[in-house]
Amino acid sequence: MASLFYFLNDLVQGIRGTNTTFLTDKEVPGADLTGKWIIITGANNGIGFEAAKSFATWGANIILGCREPPEWEQHPTAATKECNEIAHAHGHSSTIEWWPLDMADFETVEAFAQRWIATGNPLDILCNNAGIAVAPPDAKTKDGFHPVHQINYLSHVLLTLRLLPSLAEQTPGRIVCTTSCYHHLGTYNADLNSSANLSGNPYRDNKLFYQMWLTELQLRLLRHPSYMGITVNGVNPGFVYSSIWTPVKEEGGRSLQFLLSYVAINPQQGSLAITYAATSPEFGPDPKTQGIGAPNGRGGGRYINRIWDAAPKRHVNDAELRSQVWIKTAEKLKLSEKGLLDVLGL
Ligand SMILES: NC(=O)c1ccc[n+]([C@@H]2O[C@H](COP(=O)([O-])OP(=O)(O)OC[C@H]3O[C@@H](n4cnc5c(N)ncnc54)[C@H](OP(=O)(O)O)[C@@H]3O)[C@@H](O)[C@H]2O)c1
Repeated sequence: MASLFYFLNDLVQGIRGTNTTFLTDKEVPGADLTGKWIIITGANNGIGFEAAKSFATWGANIILGCREPPEWEQHPTAATKECNEIAHAHGHSSTIEWWPLDMADFETVEAFAQRWIATGNPLDILCNNAGIAVAPPDAKTKDGFHPVHQINYLSHVLLTLRLLPSLAEQTPGRIVCTTSCYHHLGTYNADLNSSANLSGNPYRDNKLFYQMWLTELQLRLLRHPSYMGITVNGVNPGFVYSSIWTPVKEEGGRSLQFLLSYVAINPQQGSLAITYAATSPEFGPDPKTQGIGAPNGRGGGRYINRIWDAAPKRHVNDAELRSQVWIKTAEKLKLSEKGLLDVLGL
């Protein structure tokens, strides 16, 4: 009985994530980001690109973290050019560049982070957005992980931890992680091993691990004097018609095509989840009131459905499970060997 209740509840919460309310500047006015530095992953396409364009409009310096894309996708050079043109048209003399970052390859994540740290710039906002929908069950990255596990989850954890000291400098930073309403339909297992015939769906499961990990991260940041001002939130952009659906369109058949054409929102609307969490006072840092679930809507570690604070799947509120996710993730990324958690004091 309880499992039926949970199933139905998860289904309803998942469906809520497909809210199609049209949002305008009234709801997401943006902010003056002149002089701020933003890193956004997966920004040559889809909602990441649209978010980068908004950040450019608002005057931010932006690093687009992108891989060399498949030839049918927009190249990061074209995306960067468009962002620069937008910034220029709005009278900003920002720095907007793309740097190579393949989330399927930890070496490039490390190189990207080192390159950033070497600039000495404080980081104001990190948007962990890159993602893929599917990969064959037996596919492996060169680091030995299922691509969805590494691209959508592990690499973002590594990038975030490497960039934390930069986020803590000068102004307290924000971290916005693109999770998904699909996390409600994810299944948890202590090995975080969803591709392994566990009736798991790697996409949904990794979005669940991600939402759990980021909530645990927020809690740990709050205990650390240098990091307690950093806010990390997970956002669901909505059901967005973007290239992420291309590999699954055929198997989804006509019903998916119908939903994409008539129900899904466009990437610009989807991007507002990122830009709102990145700029709104509502989801910003406030050391005085910060703490998971603070009553005034601040505090981080939240799941934001488009621009609205929403309930995450129950696993996210389970301290024991979150702690398991934290430990297992650290193991997979060999964080002790790297000394990373010790250095960060987390
Ligand atoms: N669309 C939806 O309905 C929906 C719903 C909930 C959550 N989301 C999440 O939103 C995020 C953005 O997705 P989207 O809908 O905007 O899809 P998208 O248009 O396919 O964008 C995904 C971005 O991630 C990049 N990416 C993929 N693999 C990468 C890798 N190995 N290294 C670096 N970058 C990589 C893509 O680059 P390439 O151009 O090189 O492929 C692209 O820039 C994802 O995390 C997705 O899970 C989407």
